[in-house]
Amino acid sequence: MTGRLHGKTAIVTGAGSGFGAAIATRFAGEGATVICADLAGDKAAAIAASLGNGSSARACDVGDPASVAALAEYARARHGHVDILVNNAAISQRPKRTAKSEVAEIERLFSVNVLSIQHMIVHVLPLMRERGGSVINMTSVTAIRPRPGMTWYNATKAAVISVTHSMAGEFAADRIRVNAIAPGVSRTPMFDAIFGAGERAEQAYGQLVETFPLGRLSEPADIAAAAVYLASDEASFITGVVLPVDGGRLIG
Ligand SMILES: NC(=O)c1ccc[n+]([C@@H]2O[C@H](COP(=O)([O-])OP(=O)(O)OC[C@H]3O[C@@H](n4cnc5c(N)ncnc54)[C@H](O)[C@@H]3O)[C@@H](O)[C@H]2O)c1
Repeated sequence: MTGRLHGKTAIVTGAGSGFGAAIATRFAGEGATVICADLAGDKAAAIAASLGNGSSARACDVGDPASVAALAEYARARHGHVDILVNNAAISQRPKRTAKSEVAEIERLFSVNVLSIQHMIVHVLPLMRERGGSVINMTSVTAIRPRPGMTWYNATKAAVISVTHSMAGEFAADRIRVNAIAPGVSRTPMFDAIFGAGERAEQAYGQLVETFPLGRLSEPADIAAAAVYLASDEASFITGVVLPVDGGRLIG
């Protein structure tokens, strides 16, 4: 590790699992102090305990404005500012015909995956204005190249791309860069919850791999590496970009 984020303070949401845990761990390895935020406060605490650098954990429901306000206040009191915000926490949906989607489920998807970014804009971005910073929103290749059965999850991720572009334009004057990462499928707890376990799950993952030109699924480490780059000063002239980390799935 090379200290590419030395001296920076980061908030990573969904840091208790999957990509978020990998990003928090890489960030700390690069010298950042990380606030690991997750609905599952115990999982966030376990990750934070392994990080050092004065990193800490905070239970937070990103879909709840009061909970995000409390997270921001925690960051302000502890660090005074935030340099990096990774809006990574999200929920998915079980594959189904679109007509079978229920309004309550769609509303929850938009609340956690999209409206959460609004709460961050209101409560956390003011803590980035003085020094500038980097926001990374987690979208998905499914926003651009959808697979059937996940219509409303895909729609939330498409909205994240649009919000990223709008934010990049609006916050450039504050020297806050806003980019998105679009991962391909990775075998995190999110996907295991969709596919389950056993032979059928293995078969489904096997079929998925064949759709990735580079011949494998993405790994949390792939996503974390991209996040380090976008968060670091090496990307200081990059804003409004959606970076696919998908083994070529978009062109395959
Ligand atoms: N895994 C994939 O294949 C894949 C592909 C493309 C994009 N993504 C995106 O990457 C991100 C991370 O996915 P993952 O696979 O690591 O998922 P994951 O399910 O392993 O982890 C998500 C974390 O978010 C937390 N979370 C859920 N709801 C929350 C809420 N309301 N408030 C705070 N925390 C909450 C969960 O507790 C969990 O720790 C998500 O935005 C997801 O949509 C994942």
